[in-house]
Amino acid sequence: MDDDTIQIVPVLDLSNLSPSQLQQKIAICCSEWGVFQIINHGVPLALQNQIRDAARHFFSLPTEIQRELLQADPFSPLSVFTGLKNEGEFRNWKHTLGFKPNPYMNTNLLPCILREPFVNFREKVGSLAHGVAKEIFAGLQLNADLLSDIHTRRQTMTVNYYPPCPERNFTYGIRPHSDFGSITLLMQDEVKGLQIRKGGNWIDMNPRKDAFIVMIGDQIEILTNGMYKSVEHRVLTNRSIPRISIACFYAPAEDDVIGPLGKFMSKRTPLMYRAVKFGDYLNHGFSKPLNGKSNLMYSAIN
Ligand code: OGA
Ligand code: NI
Repeated sequence: MDDDTIQIVPVLDLSNLSPSQLQQKIAICCSEWGVFQIINHGVPLALQNQIRDAARHFFSLPTEIQRELLQADPFSPLSVFTGLKNEGEFRNWKHTLGFKPNPYMNTNLLPCILREPFVNFREKVGSLAHGVAKEIFAGLQLNADLLSDIHTRRQTMTVNYYPPCPERNFTYGIRPHSDFGSITLLMQDEVKGLQIRKGGNWIDMNPRKDAFIVMIGDQIEILTNGMYKSVEHRVLTNRSIPRISIACFYAPAEDDVIGPLGKFMSKRTPLMYRAVKFGDYLNHGFSKPLNGKSNLMYSAIN
């Protein structure tokens, strides 16, 4: 059996690492795992708990009430999708409350049970993500200020609710995929289900309520010409307990063109990806069912 099966995803304590230690650890995580967890990150545990409670409360409401709350205003910044409809073999066993990208987000329109905690949370996690992105780029000796701004320009958030699934092997909560953007900060509750792939193995992301999981997305893999890998991940269903997660996605603006930087190309590491407008990358990803990291093929040079 491969050693990977007993490994756990690294946990970085932001309160006791010097900037250079932190950058070094992040660099190892990004090239070996594509994912790491952070604790003592400055977002209070009480706020994390409040968000999980608000999300749980929202999804405990009857569906009609959820819809009424969300669709009362045609310019609502929120949308709900249900993944439980029959969508052939590609269904995901989850409900999602999706927040549209930041420039359009009028927080006054949020249902009041969500408004205050979510606005506060979004702001705090946004600056945390910007800080993490800065350390990622600083560790690569790149222009960290510029790149962290670019790669956190488009911010979206989804609240995922995975109901119990009667048939354990019927489908996934989320099918295997990598995230399209630059980095994702994900917060889980205490219920297992999320797994990440390392080499040939699927590894459980053991729940930690005080942590954020930082996932490297496809844009960072493209930018570094494959030196940093976006992490493939999936969510398994279970028969008895609902699961909640909140995913905050950070990405370039849709007009930004992202391609490998010159310093990541050499004789030994020839160009792997072409430069692509992020909006085109997204649209391509949304246009067809995903299969693991298949959307990267859209940018791949072969
Ligand atoms: C996603 C995702 C994982 C989770 O929303 O892209 O991978 O635990 N979510 O909900
Ligand atoms: Ni994901």
